[in-house]
Amino acid sequence: MPFETAVLPAAPAGFDTPLLAVAMTRGALPASLTALDQATGGALGRLLAAGDFSGKKDETALVYPPGATARVLLVGLGKPEEVSRTAIRRAASTAAKRARSAGVVRAAFHLPSEALGAVTPAEAGQAMAEGLAQGAWQYTEMKRPPEEKKAALERMDILAPNATAAVAEGSRVGAAIGAGQALARGIQVLPGNVCTPSYVARTAEEIAGRYGFGITVLDKAAIVREGMGALMAVAQGSAEEPRFIALEYQGAEGPPVVLVGKGVTFDTGGISIKPAQNMEDMKYDMSGAAAVLGTFETMGRLRPPVHVVGLVPSTENMPSGTAVKPGDVVTSLLGKTIEIINTDAEGRLILCDALAYARRYQPACVLDIATLTGAIVVALGHTASGVMGTDDQLIEEVRSAGERSGERVWPLPLWDEYRDLMKSDIADVKNAGGRPAGSISAGWFLREFVDGFPWAHLDIAGTAYTDREDATRVKGPTGMGVRLFSEFVLGRQGAGAR
Ligand code: BES
Ligand code: MN
Ligand code: ZN
Repeated sequence: MPFETAVLPAAPAGFDTPLLAVAMTRGALPASLTALDQATGGALGRLLAAGDFSGKKDETALVYPPGATARVLLVGLGKPEEVSRTAIRRAASTAAKRARSAGVVRAAFHLPSEALGAVTPAEAGQAMAEGLAQGAWQYTEMKRPPEEKKAALERMDILAPNATAAVAEGSRVGAAIGAGQALARGIQVLPGNVCTPSYVARTAEEIAGRYGFGITVLDKAAIVREGMGALMAVAQGSAEEPRFIALEYQGAEGPPVVLVGKGVTFDTGGISIKPAQNMEDMKYDMSGAAAVLGTFETMGRLRPPVHVVGLVPSTENMPSGTAVKPGDVVTSLLGKTIEIINTDAEGRLILCDALAYARRYQPACVLDIATLTGAIVVALGHTASGVMGTDDQLIEEVRSAGERSGERVWPLPLWDEYRDLMKSDIADVKNAGGRPAGSISAGWFLREFVDGFPWAHLDIAGTAYTDREDATRVKGPTGMGVRLFSEFVLGRQGAGAR
Protein backbone atom coordinates (compact mmCIF):
# COMPACT_ATOMS: atom_id res chain seq x y z
CA MET A 1 0.00 0.00 0.00
CA PRO A 2 1.47 3.38 -0.92
CA PHE A 3 2.35 5.61 1.98
CA GLU A 4 1.17 9.21 1.81
CA THR A 5 2.07 12.51 3.39
CA ALA A 6 0.28 15.85 3.08
CA VAL A 7 1.23 19.17 4.61
CA LEU A 8 -1.59 20.78 6.60
CA PRO A 9 -1.66 24.37 7.87
CA ALA A 10 -3.14 23.09 11.16
CA ALA A 11 -1.67 23.81 14.60
CA PRO A 12 -0.77 20.79 16.73
CA ALA A 13 -2.92 21.72 19.73
CA GLY A 14 -6.17 19.78 19.70
CA PHE A 15 -5.43 18.15 16.33
CA ASP A 16 -7.68 15.16 15.82
CA THR A 17 -5.40 12.15 15.28
CA PRO A 18 -4.60 8.77 16.81
CA LEU A 19 -0.96 9.87 17.18
CA LEU A 20 0.74 13.23 16.99
CA ALA A 21 4.54 13.12 16.93
CA VAL A 22 6.35 16.30 17.97
CA ALA A 23 10.09 16.69 17.39
CA MET A 24 11.92 18.55 20.14
CA THR A 25 15.48 19.66 20.73
CA ARG A 26 17.12 19.59 24.15
CA GLY A 27 16.03 22.35 26.52
CA ALA A 28 12.79 23.98 27.55
CA LEU A 29 9.44 23.58 25.84
CA PRO A 30 9.43 26.01 22.87
CA ALA A 31 6.90 28.85 23.04
CA SER A 32 5.01 27.58 19.99
CA LEU A 33 4.11 24.41 21.93
CA THR A 34 2.45 26.25 24.85
CA ALA A 35 -1.02 25.68 23.39
CA LEU A 36 -0.29 21.98 22.86
CA ASP A 37 0.96 21.70 26.44
CA GLN A 38 -2.25 23.31 27.67
CA ALA A 39 -4.31 20.97 25.51
CA THR A 40 -2.58 18.04 27.20
CA GLY A 41 -3.42 19.46 30.63
CA GLY A 42 0.19 20.44 31.18
CA ALA A 43 1.44 16.88 30.68
CA LEU A 44 4.30 17.92 28.37
CA GLY A 45 5.60 20.47 30.90
CA ARG A 46 5.43 17.90 33.71
CA LEU A 47 7.20 15.29 31.55
CA LEU A 48 10.08 17.69 30.92
CA ALA A 49 10.19 18.91 34.52
CA ALA A 50 10.39 15.33 35.76
CA GLY A 51 13.35 14.74 33.43
CA ASP A 52 11.56 11.85 31.73
CA PHE A 53 12.27 13.41 28.35
CA SER A 54 15.16 15.72 27.55
CA GLY A 55 15.15 15.94 23.73
CA LYS A 56 18.23 13.76 23.31
CA LYS A 57 18.72 12.32 19.82
CA ASP A 58 16.39 9.31 19.22
CA GLU A 59 14.73 9.66 22.64
CA THR A 60 10.95 9.15 22.64
CA ALA A 61 8.16 9.60 25.20
CA LEU A 62 4.49 8.81 24.79
CA VAL A 63 1.70 10.81 26.47
CA TYR A 64 -2.02 9.98 26.46
CA PRO A 65 -3.75 13.35 26.85
CA PRO A 66 -7.48 13.98 27.11
CA GLY A 67 -9.19 15.27 23.96
CA ALA A 68 -8.96 14.73 20.21
CA THR A 69 -5.25 13.85 20.08
CA ALA A 70 -5.15 10.27 21.34
CA ARG A 71 -1.38 10.11 21.74
CA VAL A 72 1.39 12.68 21.77
CA LEU A 73 4.78 11.22 20.94
CA LEU A 74 7.78 13.40 21.73
CA VAL A 75 10.84 12.62 19.62
CA GLY A 76 14.31 13.95 20.48
CA LEU A 77 16.24 15.91 17.87
CA GLY A 78 19.41 16.43 19.89
CA LYS A 79 21.12 19.72 20.63
CA PRO A 80 19.47 22.82 19.08
CA GLU A 81 22.70 23.91 17.41
CA GLU A 82 23.07 20.48 15.79
CA VAL A 83 19.70 20.38 14.04
CA SER A 84 20.25 19.43 10.40
CA ARG A 85 18.34 17.81 7.58
CA THR A 86 19.78 14.50 8.78
CA ALA A 87 18.55 15.06 12.36
CA ILE A 88 15.06 16.00 11.14
CA ARG A 89 14.87 13.02 8.75
CA ARG A 90 15.98 10.75 11.55
CA ALA A 91 13.37 12.08 14.02
CA ALA A 92 10.63 11.72 11.40
CA SER A 93 11.73 8.16 10.71
CA THR A 94 11.71 7.32 14.42
CA ALA A 95 8.22 8.82 14.71
CA ALA A 96 6.86 6.81 11.78
CA LYS A 97 8.38 3.60 13.14
CA ARG A 98 6.77 4.24 16.52
CA ALA A 99 3.44 5.01 14.84
CA ARG A 100 3.77 1.76 12.91
CA SER A 101 4.39 -0.25 16.07
CA ALA A 102 1.42 1.48 17.75
CA GLY A 103 -0.70 0.03 14.93
CA VAL A 104 -2.33 3.32 13.93
CA VAL A 105 -3.46 3.78 10.34
CA ARG A 106 -2.81 7.52 10.26
CA ALA A 107 -0.73 9.90 12.30
CA ALA A 108 0.70 13.42 12.24
CA PHE A 109 4.15 14.95 12.65
CA HIS A 110 5.07 18.42 13.81
CA LEU A 111 8.40 20.20 13.90
CA PRO A 112 8.17 23.40 15.97
CA SER A 113 9.54 26.38 14.02
CA GLU A 114 11.97 27.14 16.88
CA ALA A 115 13.77 23.84 16.16
CA LEU A 116 14.60 24.64 12.53
CA GLY A 117 17.95 26.29 13.20
CA ALA A 118 19.81 26.85 9.93
CA VAL A 119 17.54 24.45 7.99
CA THR A 120 15.09 26.19 5.64
CA PRO A 121 11.36 25.30 5.80
CA ALA A 122 11.57 23.67 2.34
CA GLU A 123 14.58 21.57 3.35
CA ALA A 124 12.79 20.59 6.55
CA GLY A 125 9.68 19.64 4.56
CA GLN A 126 11.78 17.40 2.33
CA ALA A 127 13.64 15.80 5.23
CA MET A 128 10.40 15.17 7.14
CA ALA A 129 8.70 13.53 4.15
CA GLU A 130 11.77 11.38 3.44
CA GLY A 131 12.03 10.30 7.07
CA LEU A 132 8.34 9.48 7.43
CA ALA A 133 8.39 7.31 4.31
CA GLN A 134 11.61 5.69 5.50
CA GLY A 135 10.20 4.75 8.91
CA ALA A 136 6.82 3.66 7.57
CA TRP A 137 8.32 1.06 5.24
CA GLN A 138 7.84 -2.61 6.03
CA TYR A 139 7.70 -5.85 4.13
CA THR A 140 5.19 -8.49 5.19
CA GLU A 141 3.99 -9.88 1.86
CA MET A 142 5.60 -13.28 2.26
CA LYS A 143 4.28 -13.97 5.74
CA ARG A 144 0.91 -15.57 6.38
CA PRO A 145 -1.30 -12.78 7.81
CA PRO A 146 -1.67 -13.13 11.59
CA GLU A 147 -5.16 -13.75 13.03
CA GLU A 148 -5.40 -10.19 14.27
CA LYS A 149 -3.55 -8.27 11.63
CA LYS A 150 -2.10 -4.99 12.83
CA ALA A 151 -3.11 -2.21 10.45
CA ALA A 152 -0.37 -0.69 8.31
CA LEU A 153 0.44 3.00 8.65
CA GLU A 154 -1.15 4.53 5.53
CA ARG A 155 -0.52 8.22 6.00
CA MET A 156 1.37 10.57 8.23
CA ASP A 157 0.68 14.23 7.65
CA ILE A 158 2.94 17.13 8.48
CA LEU A 159 1.45 19.94 10.55
CA ALA A 160 3.08 23.19 9.46
CA PRO A 161 1.07 26.21 10.59
CA ASN A 162 3.99 28.47 9.57
CA ALA A 163 5.65 28.58 6.13
CA THR A 164 3.09 26.03 4.97
CA ALA A 165 3.75 26.53 1.25
CA ALA A 166 7.54 26.17 1.55
CA VAL A 167 7.22 23.08 3.74
CA ALA A 168 4.71 21.64 1.26
CA GLU A 169 7.03 22.21 -1.69
CA GLY A 170 9.89 20.47 0.12
CA SER A 171 7.62 17.69 1.23
CA ARG A 172 6.49 17.06 -2.38
CA VAL A 173 10.14 16.39 -3.28
CA GLY A 174 10.73 14.36 -0.13
CA ALA A 175 7.65 12.21 -0.68
CA ALA A 176 8.72 11.45 -4.26
CA ILE A 177 12.18 10.49 -3.02
CA GLY A 178 10.58 8.43 -0.25
CA ALA A 179 8.49 6.59 -2.83
CA GLY A 180 11.58 5.94 -4.95
CA GLN A 181 13.37 4.61 -1.93
CA ALA A 182 10.41 2.38 -1.07
CA LEU A 183 10.42 1.00 -4.61
CA ALA A 184 14.13 0.22 -4.32
CA ARG A 185 13.68 -1.47 -0.95
CA GLY A 186 10.71 -3.42 -2.25
CA ILE A 187 12.77 -5.13 -4.94
CA GLN A 188 15.95 -5.39 -2.87
CA VAL A 189 14.17 -7.42 -0.22
CA LEU A 190 12.87 -9.99 -2.72
CA PRO A 191 14.63 -13.35 -2.73
CA GLY A 192 16.68 -14.48 -5.70
CA ASN A 193 14.05 -16.94 -6.86
CA VAL A 194 11.54 -14.11 -7.27
CA CYS A 195 13.74 -11.17 -8.24
CA THR A 196 15.47 -12.62 -11.30
CA PRO A 197 17.00 -10.58 -14.13
CA SER A 198 13.73 -10.81 -16.09
CA TYR A 199 11.85 -9.62 -12.99
CA VAL A 200 14.16 -6.59 -12.75
CA ALA A 201 13.46 -5.90 -16.43
CA ARG A 202 9.70 -6.23 -15.93
CA THR A 203 9.90 -3.79 -13.01
CA ALA A 204 11.76 -1.31 -15.22
CA GLU A 205 9.14 -1.78 -17.96
CA GLU A 206 6.38 -1.20 -15.45
CA ILE A 207 7.98 2.08 -14.27
CA ALA A 208 8.58 3.16 -17.87
CA GLY A 209 4.96 2.43 -18.76
CA ARG A 210 3.65 4.33 -15.76
CA TYR A 211 5.63 7.48 -16.51
CA GLY A 212 6.15 7.30 -20.27
CA PHE A 213 9.92 6.78 -20.12
CA GLY A 214 11.89 5.37 -23.03
CA ILE A 215 12.96 1.77 -22.42
CA THR A 216 15.04 -0.85 -24.17
CA VAL A 217 15.49 -4.34 -22.77
CA LEU A 218 18.08 -6.61 -24.36
CA ASP A 219 17.54 -10.33 -23.84
CA LYS A 220 20.33 -12.89 -23.94
CA ALA A 221 20.47 -13.13 -27.74
CA ALA A 222 20.57 -9.34 -28.06
CA ILE A 223 23.28 -9.08 -25.38
CA VAL A 224 25.38 -11.57 -27.34
CA ARG A 225 24.69 -9.73 -30.59
CA GLU A 226 25.66 -6.43 -28.97
CA GLY A 227 29.05 -7.91 -28.03
CA MET A 228 28.77 -7.71 -24.26
CA GLY A 229 31.24 -10.52 -23.68
CA ALA A 230 31.95 -9.59 -20.06
CA LEU A 231 28.27 -9.56 -19.04
CA MET A 232 27.80 -12.87 -20.90
CA ALA A 233 30.78 -14.43 -19.12
CA VAL A 234 28.95 -13.93 -15.81
CA ALA A 235 25.55 -14.94 -17.22
CA GLN A 236 26.65 -18.10 -19.07
CA GLY A 237 26.59 -20.33 -15.98
CA SER A 238 23.02 -19.58 -15.08
CA ALA A 239 19.72 -21.12 -16.17
CA GLU A 240 18.11 -17.69 -15.73
CA GLU A 241 18.57 -15.46 -18.76
CA PRO A 242 20.36 -12.12 -18.30
CA ARG A 243 18.85 -8.77 -19.24
CA PHE A 244 20.37 -5.44 -20.14
CA ILE A 245 18.01 -2.55 -19.38
CA ALA A 246 18.22 1.04 -20.64
CA LEU A 247 15.72 3.59 -19.27
CA GLU A 248 15.53 7.19 -20.42
CA TYR A 249 13.76 10.21 -18.98
CA GLN A 250 14.24 13.26 -21.15
CA GLY A 251 12.90 16.21 -19.14
CA ALA A 252 15.42 18.52 -20.82
CA GLU A 253 17.58 18.76 -23.91
CA GLY A 254 21.33 18.26 -23.69
CA PRO A 255 23.63 15.42 -22.68
CA PRO A 256 22.20 13.13 -20.02
CA VAL A 257 23.36 12.10 -16.58
CA VAL A 258 23.78 8.33 -16.96
CA LEU A 259 23.19 6.16 -13.88
CA VAL A 260 24.51 2.59 -14.02
CA GLY A 261 23.39 0.02 -11.42
CA LYS A 262 24.80 -3.44 -10.72
CA GLY A 263 21.94 -5.90 -11.02
CA VAL A 264 23.31 -9.26 -9.88
CA THR A 265 20.12 -10.87 -8.59
CA PHE A 266 22.11 -13.52 -6.74
CA ASP A 267 25.87 -13.79 -6.32
CA THR A 268 27.05 -17.28 -5.38
CA GLY A 269 30.56 -16.35 -6.47
CA GLY A 270 30.32 -18.74 -9.41
CA ILE A 271 33.11 -21.36 -9.70
CA SER A 272 35.08 -19.23 -7.17
CA ILE A 273 32.17 -20.04 -4.88
CA LYS A 274 31.46 -18.11 -1.67
CA PRO A 275 31.27 -19.74 1.77
CA ALA A 276 27.75 -20.67 2.97
CA GLN A 277 27.81 -18.28 5.94
CA ASN A 278 25.56 -15.28 5.09
CA MET A 279 25.46 -16.20 1.41
CA GLU A 280 21.70 -15.49 1.52
CA ASP A 281 22.58 -11.79 1.78
CA MET A 282 23.79 -11.97 -1.81
CA LYS A 283 20.18 -11.51 -2.93
CA TYR A 284 21.04 -7.87 -2.22
CA ASP A 285 23.66 -7.84 -4.96
CA MET A 286 21.16 -6.05 -7.21
CA SER A 287 20.97 -3.04 -4.86
CA GLY A 288 22.69 -0.76 -7.38
CA ALA A 289 20.00 -1.65 -9.92
CA ALA A 290 17.35 -0.96 -7.28
CA ALA A 291 18.86 2.48 -6.63
CA VAL A 292 18.66 3.34 -10.34
CA LEU A 293 15.06 2.12 -10.70
CA GLY A 294 14.07 3.91 -7.48
CA THR A 295 15.56 7.14 -8.81
CA PHE A 296 13.45 6.77 -11.96
CA GLU A 297 10.36 6.34 -9.79
CA THR A 298 11.29 9.64 -8.11
CA MET A 299 11.89 11.34 -11.47
CA GLY A 300 8.54 10.10 -12.76
CA ARG A 301 6.74 11.64 -9.80
CA LEU A 302 8.61 14.95 -9.95
CA ARG A 303 9.20 15.36 -13.68
CA PRO A 304 12.09 17.80 -13.21
CA PRO A 305 13.77 19.49 -16.21
CA VAL A 306 16.68 17.04 -16.40
CA HIS A 307 17.85 14.35 -18.82
CA VAL A 308 18.63 11.03 -17.14
CA VAL A 309 19.50 7.60 -18.54
CA GLY A 310 19.54 4.47 -16.39
CA LEU A 311 21.53 1.40 -17.42
CA VAL A 312 21.11 -1.89 -15.59
CA PRO A 313 23.03 -5.02 -16.53
CA SER A 314 21.29 -7.87 -14.71
CA THR A 315 22.27 -11.51 -14.25
CA GLU A 316 22.80 -14.22 -11.68
CA ASN A 317 26.30 -15.43 -10.85
CA MET A 318 26.12 -19.24 -10.65
CA PRO A 319 28.51 -22.18 -10.80
CA SER A 320 27.64 -24.83 -13.37
CA GLY A 321 29.00 -26.87 -16.26
CA THR A 322 28.62 -23.88 -18.51
CA ALA A 323 30.00 -21.33 -16.05
CA VAL A 324 33.04 -19.20 -16.79
CA LYS A 325 36.24 -20.59 -15.21
CA PRO A 326 39.15 -18.86 -13.50
CA GLY A 327 41.73 -18.17 -16.17
CA ASP A 328 39.19 -17.77 -18.98
CA VAL A 329 39.72 -14.75 -21.20
CA VAL A 330 36.74 -12.85 -22.64
CA THR A 331 36.32 -9.82 -24.87
CA SER A 332 34.33 -6.90 -23.50
CA LEU A 333 32.04 -4.54 -25.41
CA LEU A 334 34.77 -1.90 -25.44
CA GLY A 335 37.07 -4.44 -27.13
CA LYS A 336 39.49 -4.88 -24.25
CA THR A 337 40.19 -8.48 -23.27
CA ILE A 338 39.76 -9.58 -19.65
CA GLU A 339 41.41 -12.48 -17.86
CA ILE A 340 38.90 -13.73 -15.30
CA ILE A 341 41.05 -14.59 -12.29
CA ASN A 342 38.17 -14.82 -9.85
CA THR A 343 34.58 -15.48 -10.95
CA ASP A 344 33.37 -13.80 -7.74
CA ALA A 345 34.61 -10.45 -9.06
CA GLU A 346 31.59 -10.44 -11.37
CA GLY A 347 30.13 -7.02 -10.64
CA ARG A 348 32.92 -5.18 -12.42
CA LEU A 349 32.47 -7.49 -15.41
CA ILE A 350 28.84 -6.61 -15.96
CA LEU A 351 29.46 -2.91 -15.20
CA CYS A 352 32.32 -2.57 -17.67
CA ASP A 353 30.02 -3.48 -20.56
CA ALA A 354 27.43 -0.99 -19.31
CA LEU A 355 30.12 1.73 -19.15
CA ALA A 356 31.08 0.99 -22.75
CA TYR A 357 27.40 1.05 -23.75
CA ALA A 358 27.01 4.48 -22.08
CA ARG A 359 29.26 6.10 -24.71
CA ARG A 360 26.41 6.21 -27.22
CA TYR A 361 24.60 8.82 -25.10
CA GLN A 362 27.58 11.19 -25.04
CA PRO A 363 26.87 11.63 -21.33
CA ALA A 364 27.36 14.79 -19.28
CA CYS A 365 28.63 12.34 -16.68
CA VAL A 366 28.24 8.70 -15.67
CA LEU A 367 27.68 7.55 -12.10
CA ASP A 368 27.75 3.84 -11.36
CA ILE A 369 26.51 2.26 -8.15
CA ALA A 370 27.30 -1.27 -7.02
CA THR A 371 27.62 -3.63 -4.08
CA LEU A 372 31.08 -4.21 -5.46
CA THR A 373 33.60 -5.18 -2.79
CA GLY A 374 33.74 -6.64 0.70
CA ALA A 375 36.83 -4.46 1.13
CA ILE A 376 34.72 -1.28 1.24
CA VAL A 377 33.00 -2.67 4.35
CA VAL A 378 36.42 -3.08 5.95
CA ALA A 379 37.38 0.48 4.99
CA LEU A 380 34.21 2.45 5.78
CA GLY A 381 31.93 0.06 7.67
CA HIS A 382 28.19 0.55 7.30
CA THR A 383 28.32 4.33 7.74
CA ALA A 384 29.51 5.56 4.36
CA SER A 385 29.80 4.32 0.80
CA GLY A 386 33.03 4.67 -1.14
CA VAL A 387 33.34 7.02 -4.09
CA MET A 388 36.06 6.98 -6.77
CA GLY A 389 36.33 8.58 -10.16
CA THR A 390 38.11 10.42 -12.91
CA ASP A 391 36.99 13.93 -12.10
CA ASP A 392 37.55 15.69 -8.77
CA GLN A 393 34.75 18.17 -9.36
CA LEU A 394 32.27 15.38 -10.08
CA ILE A 395 33.41 13.47 -6.99
CA GLU A 396 32.86 16.61 -4.92
CA GLU A 397 29.40 17.04 -6.46
CA VAL A 398 28.56 13.43 -5.50
CA ARG A 399 29.98 13.90 -2.02
CA SER A 400 27.91 17.02 -1.51
CA ALA A 401 24.71 15.29 -2.75
CA GLY A 402 25.53 12.54 -0.27
CA GLU A 403 25.79 15.01 2.62
CA ARG A 404 22.53 16.74 1.73
CA SER A 405 20.70 13.44 1.36
CA GLY A 406 22.16 11.84 4.47
CA GLU A 407 23.61 9.03 2.32
CA ARG A 408 27.23 9.74 2.98
CA VAL A 409 30.06 8.83 0.65
CA TRP A 410 33.79 9.15 1.16
CA PRO A 411 36.50 9.29 -1.52
CA LEU A 412 39.22 6.72 -2.15
CA PRO A 413 42.10 7.55 -4.50
CA LEU A 414 42.47 6.10 -7.99
CA TRP A 415 46.15 6.96 -8.25
CA ASP A 416 48.17 5.59 -11.16
CA GLU A 417 50.25 3.51 -8.73
CA TYR A 418 47.22 1.27 -8.17
CA ARG A 419 46.74 0.52 -11.85
CA ASP A 420 49.36 -2.23 -11.86
CA LEU A 421 47.17 -4.32 -9.54
CA MET A 422 44.95 -5.16 -12.52
CA LYS A 423 47.65 -6.02 -15.09
CA SER A 424 47.20 -9.43 -16.67
CA ASP A 425 49.99 -11.61 -18.09
CA ILE A 426 47.96 -12.62 -21.13
CA ALA A 427 45.03 -10.20 -21.54
CA ASP A 428 44.57 -6.40 -21.52
CA VAL A 429 43.41 -6.47 -17.91
CA LYS A 430 42.49 -9.00 -15.20
CA ASN A 431 39.35 -8.84 -13.09
CA ALA A 432 40.85 -9.38 -9.64
CA GLY A 433 43.97 -8.04 -7.95
CA GLY A 434 44.80 -9.36 -4.55
CA ARG A 435 43.60 -8.43 -1.09
CA PRO A 436 45.42 -5.07 -0.89
CA ALA A 437 43.31 -2.04 -1.85
CA GLY A 438 40.42 -4.28 -2.91
CA SER A 439 37.94 -1.45 -3.47
CA ILE A 440 40.43 0.72 -5.34
CA SER A 441 41.56 -2.08 -7.65
CA ALA A 442 37.90 -2.72 -8.49
CA GLY A 443 37.55 1.00 -9.21
CA TRP A 444 40.65 0.89 -11.40
CA PHE A 445 39.22 -2.04 -13.34
CA LEU A 446 36.11 0.01 -14.12
CA ARG A 447 38.21 3.01 -15.02
CA GLU A 448 39.81 0.96 -17.81
CA PHE A 449 36.39 1.03 -19.51
CA VAL A 450 35.62 4.72 -19.05
CA ASP A 451 36.00 6.39 -22.39
CA GLY A 452 35.11 9.99 -23.05
CA PHE A 453 33.01 11.17 -20.08
CA PRO A 454 33.48 12.28 -16.47
CA TRP A 455 32.77 9.27 -14.24
CA ALA A 456 32.30 8.44 -10.60
CA HIS A 457 31.77 5.04 -9.01
CA LEU A 458 29.91 4.34 -5.75
CA ASP A 459 30.67 1.17 -3.79
CA ILE A 460 27.66 0.48 -1.57
CA ALA A 461 28.48 -3.05 -0.34
CA GLY A 462 28.46 -1.78 3.27
CA THR A 463 25.38 0.45 3.06
CA ALA A 464 22.86 -1.27 0.78
CA TYR A 465 21.41 -3.43 3.54
CA THR A 466 21.73 -3.78 7.27
CA ASP A 467 21.46 -6.71 9.62
CA ARG A 468 20.25 -4.64 12.54
CA GLU A 469 17.62 -2.08 13.28
CA ASP A 470 18.75 1.41 14.29
CA ALA A 471 17.29 4.93 14.34
CA THR A 472 17.79 5.54 10.65
CA ARG A 473 17.41 2.05 9.29
CA VAL A 474 15.02 -0.85 9.38
CA LYS A 475 16.62 -4.30 9.32
CA GLY A 476 17.06 -5.34 5.68
CA PRO A 477 17.25 -3.17 2.56
CA THR A 478 18.11 0.53 2.87
CA GLY A 479 17.38 1.80 -0.64
CA MET A 480 20.85 3.38 -0.55
CA GLY A 481 21.47 5.57 -3.55
CA VAL A 482 17.97 6.82 -4.32
CA ARG A 483 18.26 9.87 -2.08
CA LEU A 484 21.79 10.65 -3.23
CA PHE A 485 21.03 10.20 -6.94
CA SER A 486 17.82 12.23 -6.70
CA GLU A 487 19.64 15.01 -4.86
CA PHE A 488 22.45 14.90 -7.44
CA VAL A 489 20.14 15.01 -10.45
CA LEU A 490 17.87 17.70 -8.97
CA GLY A 491 21.00 19.70 -8.21
CA ARG A 492 21.72 19.76 -11.95
CA GLN A 493 18.38 21.28 -12.89
CA GLY A 494 18.94 24.00 -15.42
CA ALA A 495 22.68 23.45 -15.20
CA GLY A 496 22.78 22.03 -18.75
CA ALA A 497 26.02 20.39 -19.80
CA ARG A 498 28.67 20.97 -17.18
N1 BES B 1 28.89 -8.86 -4.33
C1 BES B 1 30.22 -8.99 -3.86
C2 BES B 1 30.63 -7.87 -2.91
C3 BES B 1 29.92 -7.81 -1.58
C4 BES B 1 30.54 -8.31 -0.45
C5 BES B 1 28.70 -7.20 -1.46
C6 BES B 1 29.90 -8.21 0.77
C7 BES B 1 28.06 -7.11 -0.24
C8 BES B 1 28.67 -7.61 0.87
C9 BES B 1 31.19 -8.98 -5.05
O1 BES B 1 30.70 -9.51 -6.22
C10 BES B 1 32.36 -9.81 -4.66
O2 BES B 1 32.19 -10.97 -4.48
N2 BES B 1 33.53 -9.18 -4.54
C11 BES B 1 34.72 -9.86 -4.18
C12 BES B 1 35.82 -9.43 -5.12
C13 BES B 1 37.07 -10.25 -5.01
C14 BES B 1 36.81 -11.66 -5.48
C15 BES B 1 38.16 -9.59 -5.84
C16 BES B 1 35.05 -9.49 -2.74
O3 BES B 1 34.83 -8.36 -2.35
O4 BES B 1 35.48 -10.38 -2.02
MN1 MN C 1 30.96 -11.62 -6.32
ZN1 ZN D 1 28.63 -9.42 -6.48
